Amino acid sequence: MQQVLRSKDMQEIKTKELAEAFINEQIKEIKAQVGDKKVLLALSGGVDSSVLAALLSKAIGKQLYCVHVNHGLMRKNESEGVCEIFGKMLGENLIYIDATDRFLDLLKGVSDPESKRKIIGKEFIEVFAEEARKLEGVEYLAQGTIYPDILESIEQGEGKKAVKSHHNVGGLPDDLKFELVEPLRLLYKDEVRVVGEALGLPHSMVYRQPFPGPGLGVRCLGAITRDRLHALREADAILREEFDNCGLAKTVWQFFVVVPDIKSVGVKDDARYEGWPAIIRAVNTKKAITATIEEIPYSVLHKITQRITSEVEGINRVLYDLTPKPVGTIEWE
Ligand code: XMP
Repeated sequence: MQQVLRSKDMQEIKTKELAEAFINEQIKEIKAQVGDKKVLLALSGGVDSSVLAALLSKAIGKQLYCVHVNHGLMRKNESEGVCEIFGKMLGENLIYIDATDRFLDLLKGVSDPESKRKIIGKEFIEVFAEEARKLEGVEYLAQGTIYPDILESIEQGEGKKAVKSHHNVGGLPDDLKFELVEPLRLLYKDEVRVVGEALGLPHSMVYRQPFPGPGLGVRCLGAITRDRLHALREADAILREEFDNCGLAKTVWQFFVVVPDIKSVGVKDDARYEGWPAIIRAVNTKKAITATIEEIPYSVLHKITQRITSEVEGINRVLYDLTPKPVGTIEWE
C-alpha cells in the first residue's frame, strides 16, 4: 500500500466534471506507470474493484486481466451481473472461475465462524494465484485501495498491515511478485462512486451496499449446507427485491437475511412442515462501529414474510432482528 496523503488543495470529487478530470489525470498516470505491461485485478464485483476495473480498462484496454472468483457464497445473480457488465467491457480478458465446489467442499462440517473466514480467505488466494500463474508476463497487480484504508494502516503504525480481504489481495505466495497499481488510493468512498458513475457503471453496482468478503458464508450460520445456503440466497433476493420496490434499498445502509441451523415445526398444505427461520437484519450506521435498526413499516415486513414463507423451500418463519450494535454486531458471525 502506498502511504501518500491527500494534499490540502485536492478538491473533493462531487461532480461529473471533477470525476472526468480525475479520470483523465489517472489515465495518464496509469499509462506512465505500467507502459505496455500486463496488469492483473481480482474483481469481486464490489464498488472499489468494479470502479478500478472500469478505470483501468479505459486506460490500458487489453493489457488488463480481471479474475472474478465465484466462491459459491455470492448473492443471487451477483456473479452473473459481474460477468455481464465486465464481459462486455473486457471480452476474453475477464476470467471467470466458478470455484463453488472447491469452497463448499472445504467448508463442509466447519461451524466455527473464524475458521470459516480463514478457509474462505486462504482458498480465495489459492484460486487467484493459480489463475495468475497461468497468465504470462503480468508485472502489475491492481488493488482497490481507497483513502480510508491508507488512513487506517497509518493509524495502526508502520509495519502492521491492516489488509481487508474483500478488496486487497494480501498474502499472495512468494513466487508471485507484482508491483502495485492503486489509482483510487486518494479517494473516499463517495468519490469512488462519483467516478464510477462517470465511467458509465450502473447505479446498482456503484451504490451497492457493503457485502463481506466471506459473503453468504457468514450468514448461513454454523456448518454450511447447500440446501440451507440455497434457501438463504433465495430469501435474501426477496428481501432485496421488496426493499427496492418500497424505496428502502436507497436509504438503508445494509440489509440482509441470516439463516441459522435451527428448525421449528410449522404447517404447510395441512401437514407438519419443519423449516428454518429467515432472520432479517436492516441497519444504519456511519462507519459500522455502531449501528441502529431501521424501522421497517409493518406492511413491508408482512409482504416479505408472506413471500419468503411461500416462495422459499425450507423456510417456515421470518423474524426481524431488532438488536442494535452494540450489543449485537451487524453480522451474526
Ligand atoms: P460487524 O458484524 O463486525 O460488521 O458489526 C461490520 C461491517 O463489516 C462487515 N463484515 C465483514 N467484511 N469481511 C468483510 O469484508 C468479513 O469477514 C466481515 N465481517 C463483517 C459487515 O458486513 C458490516 O458491514
